[in-house]
Amino acid sequence: MFEVYAYADGDGEVRVKQPAYWTVAHGVAVNYQTYVVPAVIRPFAKRLLEAAEPRPGNRVLDVACGTGELSRMVAPTVQPEGSVTGVDPSIEMLGVARALPTPGNVTWIEAYADDLPLADGSIDLVVIHQGMQFFPDKPKALQEIRRVLVPEGTLAFSSWRSHEYNPVNRATASVIEKFFGRFPDVTPGVGFGFGEEDVFGPLLEQAGFRLESLQPVRIEIEYPSADEYLTRQWSATPSAGVLAEHEELRDEAFAAALKEIERFSTQDGFRGPMETMIVVARL
Ligand SMILES: C[S@@+](CC[C@H](N)C(=O)[O-])C[C@H]1O[C@@H](n2cnc3c(N)ncnc32)[C@H](O)[C@@H]1O
Repeated sequence: MFEVYAYADGDGEVRVKQPAYWTVAHGVAVNYQTYVVPAVIRPFAKRLLEAAEPRPGNRVLDVACGTGELSRMVAPTVQPEGSVTGVDPSIEMLGVARALPTPGNVTWIEAYADDLPLADGSIDLVVIHQGMQFFPDKPKALQEIRRVLVPEGTLAFSSWRSHEYNPVNRATASVIEKFFGRFPDVTPGVGFGFGEEDVFGPLLEQAGFRLESLQPVRIEIEYPSADEYLTRQWSATPSAGVLAEHEELRDEAFAAALKEIERFSTQDGFRGPMETMIVVARL
C-alpha cells in the first residue's frame, strides 16, 4: 500500500501535516526537471503566464514552484524592478531549482502554501502551476495568498482537469492502483481531482476572490515512444516512490500500463492529450 511520505524540515522536525509526495528520494526531482518539465510543464506554464499577464515591475509569488520552471520563465518579464519568489516545501525540488542558472531577481524559499513567510500586501501577482490540488487545506492556503497580495492583487493558477480529460494519466493511474493500491493521483482531491469550476469556484469566493476567467487548455504531449513516456513518467513523479518499494511487481505493472497506453502511439511517436483548467481570480 502507498504510504504518505514524511518530510523532515531544517531543524529535524518531521512534518506530516500534508502529503509531501514530491519529497520522495530516488532522484525524482532531477528526473522531473529532465523529463516532465520540457514535455509537459513548459508548454502548459506558458499558457498560464499568458493568462496571468505579468507586467514589468510586478512582485510575483510562485507558490509550489517545484524545480522553478515558471519562476524562471516569468522573471525576465518583470525585471529589472520586479521580483519573483518561488516557494515550495520540498527541499529536493528546491534543490534542483537552486542548482539551475537563475535570473538575479528570483529568490527561493522553503515553505508551505498555508504558511508563507512573506509580509502582508507585498505581492502583486500569485501564480501556481499544478500545485493547488496538492494543498491539504485549500481555504487556509487561499487566506494566506490573500494576505500577502496587494488589495487589487491577482491569483492565476492551473490545475489538471479530471481523469475524464486526461486519458493517458487515467490509464496509468488505474494500473498503478490495481498493482499497488491507492495512489495520490487517483485519490479524490489530489493530482487530477481539482480542476472543475464547481470545486474551486466556491472556495475562491469564500476566500474573497472574484473569479475572472476559466479556460480549459488541452495540449498533446509528445514523447519518442509509449515506452519512453512510461519510463520517464514513472521515474519523475511520485509513482517512483511506490515502484521503488515494490520492485518485484514493477515489470508486470510496466507491461500492463504499456498495453493500456499503446493506443496513443503514432508513426511519429507517442502523442497523448493532457488538459488543465487555467483560472484567473482577483481580489
Ligand atoms: C506537480 S509539482 C509542480 C511544480 C511546479 N509548479 C511545476 O509546474 O513544475 C507539485 C508541487 O507542489 C508542491 N506542494 C505540495 N504540497 C504543497 C503545499 N502544501 N504547499 C506548497 N507546495 C506544495 C510539491 O512539493 C511540488 O513541488
